[in-house]
Amino acid sequence: MPTLLLCEKPLPLHMQILDGKLVSEAIKAQLATDVAALKAVGKKAPHLAAILVGNNPASETYVASKVKSCAECGYDSTLLRFDAQISEKHLLDQIILLNENPEVDGILVQLPLPKHINEELVINTIDPSKDVDGFHPMNVGKMVSGLPTFIPATPYGIMLMLEHYNIPTKGKHAVVIGRSHIVGTPMSILLSRNSYPGNCTVTLTHSQTHNLPEICRQADIIVAAIGRPDFVTADMVKEGAVIIDVGINRVEDASRKSGFRLKGDVNFEQVAPKASFITPVPGGVGPMTIAALLKNTYHAATGLKGSQN
Ligand SMILES: NC(=O)c1ccc[n+]([C@@H]2O[C@H](COP(=O)([O-])OP(=O)(O)OC[C@H]3O[C@@H](n4cnc5c(N)ncnc54)[C@H](OP(=O)(O)O)[C@@H]3O)[C@@H](O)[C@H]2O)c1
Repeated sequence: MPTLLLCEKPLPLHMQILDGKLVSEAIKAQLATDVAALKAVGKKAPHLAAILVGNNPASETYVASKVKSCAECGYDSTLLRFDAQISEKHLLDQIILLNENPEVDGILVQLPLPKHINEELVINTIDPSKDVDGFHPMNVGKMVSGLPTFIPATPYGIMLMLEHYNIPTKGKHAVVIGRSHIVGTPMSILLSRNSYPGNCTVTLTHSQTHNLPEICRQADIIVAAIGRPDFVTADMVKEGAVIIDVGINRVEDASRKSGFRLKGDVNFEQVAPKASFITPVPGGVGPMTIAALLKNTYHAATGLKGSQN
């Protein structure tokens, strides 16, 4: 656990790391078993098609991890790479071909896309029954209505993590920082549902929120999805809070071969000693996002849209 080594002070005994690597490996092992069982009775393996436009280094890394995880679980995968100059029409045509291809169960378009391409239009073009990222408005609507559907992978992965560690959520005050369509907003909906994990009283905050530190200090659970390294500091956290750090920020580090290292939105060193549970970065929410994507793809392949917990 390299993240622990970053702490100058010893971590308190009651604090527990939420190990996304470990939990995601367990989920992937189960999926691999389930896929082997499908193949054993002559059924096809789930097939994920990923579209990568341009060569954003972070996107390259995410897509490579997704493709690698597919192989680990016995899935088929196809990676379609396009130049950043691809026309919007050509990209939409490719998605339509994947929609019509019966071999493909799940489609993901790695975001962000180049500025000249309308992301909303791209997402709306994906067949909702293959939309394993859960971004299509039809799937978002089902999620809000509590109907079985594909839950966006990052919040779904966080729900799986809370469940795995049996973290109490009923009646707790959850503060979600960030209201993006892919993380903060769906997270707030999932945590407020009448289910486990859920039944939280949720405060959804954003850049226009007044008194954010004061609101955070009232939180039993904080989900930080802002995109700013070390944004959440010790003074914003109540003793014993559960801290979920979604942020993945590249910060310069001349001592690394890559020239950077990854940091979360939470100042881990400061906050961990006050937390009851905390996710490290890397090794927390990131691997859980991939596990959740694979679960959605399995559901797409088997017609079991069981992602609503
Ligand atoms: N671990 C994973 O698998 C995973 C997956 C997705 C994203 N991420 C990471 O999570 C982070 C957030 O991603 P995202 O896509 O949700 O980002 P995003 O679309 O940029 O949204 C950021 C949110 O943070 C809010 N915000 C910005 N400054 C703030 C401030 N000073 N106080 C309070 N709220 C503030 C913004 O508010 P406004 O709406 O008012 O602008 C916005 O709602 C990034 O680091 C990203 O790389 C990780």
